[in-house]
Amino acid sequence: MRKKIIAGNWKMNKLIGDAVELASALKAKVADRTDVEVVVCPTFTALKSVGDVVAGSQVKLGSQNMHWEKDGAFTGEISADMLRDTGCQYVILGHSERRQFFGETDAGVNRKVKVALTANLTPIVCVGETLEEREANKTEDVVTTQVTKSLAGLDETSFRRIVVAYEPVWAIGTGRTASPAQAQEVHALIRKVLSKMCNPGAAQAVRIQYGGSMKPANAKELMAQPDIDGGLIGGAALDAASFLAIVDAAV
Ligand code: 13P
Repeated sequence: MRKKIIAGNWKMNKLIGDAVELASALKAKVADRTDVEVVVCPTFTALKSVGDVVAGSQVKLGSQNMHWEKDGAFTGEISADMLRDTGCQYVILGHSERRQFFGETDAGVNRKVKVALTANLTPIVCVGETLEEREANKTEDVVTTQVTKSLAGLDETSFRRIVVAYEPVWAIGTGRTASPAQAQEVHALIRKVLSKMCNPGAAQAVRIQYGGSMKPANAKELMAQPDIDGGLIGGAALDAASFLAIVDAAV
């Protein structure tokens, strides 16, 4: 039985004070929740402060990105060890906004995934098609390629540790959600691809989150699908009540 995982991707929102306030509210409300994993991913500048708030609690800390080198002359970048230093246990990699606006590629994501695992961070690896690709019936090809290339060369232990997030680009921040059936179809595809890359047992262990306008109103139905193991939440994660309602919908 896969434990559901609900992660809030706060994107480029919240100054330190607001981030700490939200994290404190979440920590108080999920204090006794062991039936679902709860992760918050603030901006780099708020990581340490939020990390201090949630340390030792049921709320886990994640980052929204990471560089693939250990250290060195990479102006403006943040390493896996630096993330660990703030208390991070998770890192979102290959988010569509990184791919779209910052030129991230599957090959780059693959390097980051391996480095994250070595540093004992759990990668949340994002994949998903654009509207244009969906309308051209390319969803299966696009998602298969992204999964295959982003997770190339991992051993079974690594496969069992990763989280995959299916985020159809056309559903992100648009209020337009994939229907439970549409999402389930792609989640099942992802699990099939994983099973070919590794083995069926490991593929069954991988948590696959859905992301893209997940809200309290649609979360339950989405997460009732057999291969949807949680959510990666953007807008609805910025407010404690709506994020907590999604956490409740997971169980
Ligand atoms: P929204 O929930 O705002 O659509 O964002 C989803 C997302 O991109 C999470 O990573």
